[in-house]
Amino acid sequence: MLLPLCKVRTTLLELSYMKLDTLITIIRTHHVTSMIVILFYMYIIFTKRFEKSSEPRSSKYKLKLPKTPHLTLYEKDIKNRQIFIIGDVHGCLEELEDLLVLANYESDKILLIFVGDLVNKGPHSVQTLRKVRELNAYAVRGNHEEIALVQYMTWWNGEVVTPRKCSWTTELNEDEVDFLQELPYTIEIPSKNALIVHGGIVPGVSLENQNLTHFISMRSLQTIGEKLIASPRTFIGKPWASFWSGPRHVYFGHDAARSLQQYPYATGLDTRCLYGGFISGIFLDSNKILQIRAKLVHQKPKIKTE
Ligand SMILES: *[C@@H]1O[C@H](CO)[C@@H](O)[C@H](O)[C@H]1NC(C)=O
Repeated sequence: MLLPLCKVRTTLLELSYMKLDTLITIIRTHHVTSMIVILFYMYIIFTKRFEKSSEPRSSKYKLKLPKTPHLTLYEKDIKNRQIFIIGDVHGCLEELEDLLVLANYESDKILLIFVGDLVNKGPHSVQTLRKVRELNAYAVRGNHEEIALVQYMTWWNGEVVTPRKCSWTTELNEDEVDFLQELPYTIEIPSKNALIVHGGIVPGVSLENQNLTHFISMRSLQTIGEKLIASPRTFIGKPWASFWSGPRHVYFGHDAARSLQQYPYATGLDTRCLYGGFISGIFLDSNKILQIRAKLVHQKPKIKTE
């Protein structure tokens, strides 16, 4: 027998307010009601599932998802300019400025894209952020942009304790906080077959299904059975980029310990400027890499033994 849908819904609502023993008595005596009960549970399971799949995604820092987590750039954005992708800056503003001079940067000829970690640890976080905005550059979010946002919110909520590396966040204005909040996890440029991310990407998983924490903090992958699993430590497993076989060429940062990485379909650009290494940039069309040596060791590198 068929019931009109609205009738089913009303019955379900009534049933959901009923006591369990009343419900059992009814099931014993009415087969039709039993059918409805089954439908009711199916309905519950369905809506529960739906709730789960529509849960907002977030990385381990539990931030609100930006409006555009995966940004795509088209010719209308590129406007026939060359694309120059720059590695981790960490507040090394002077080196960044020298790199722009070396690249003969002019806003109508070159479009800049940063791989994230513009801020923290180094000398000029706020000024670097302001410079990047002034340059109308694009950037993906790094783990340090997320750490900075978390710190800003803690401070804004009235907690005074701010770790020294994040004390600059109290100088941010609302626009700058918005800028950080809206940084995408990935930037894709189909016309150049390029993809930009801060940390890494697990091969074989679509961008929408990647774990957001991996986008900002993965360095290595381990093979477990047939599966590739993000490794919790840099030197357990192999560089994620060594497993990446395209089709997009990925430009990334985050792995200062390994410094410049060059694979057929991936280029790692964190060349340790903060630790007295270099700041690096690459022109997409020619693959030409430009570097500026750090003015000084802004921070002593941690010795990693594993
Ligand atoms: C994402 O990866 C992190 C780090 O590997 C892990 O702790 C977390 O559980 C993962 N999240 C999901 C939803 O799988």
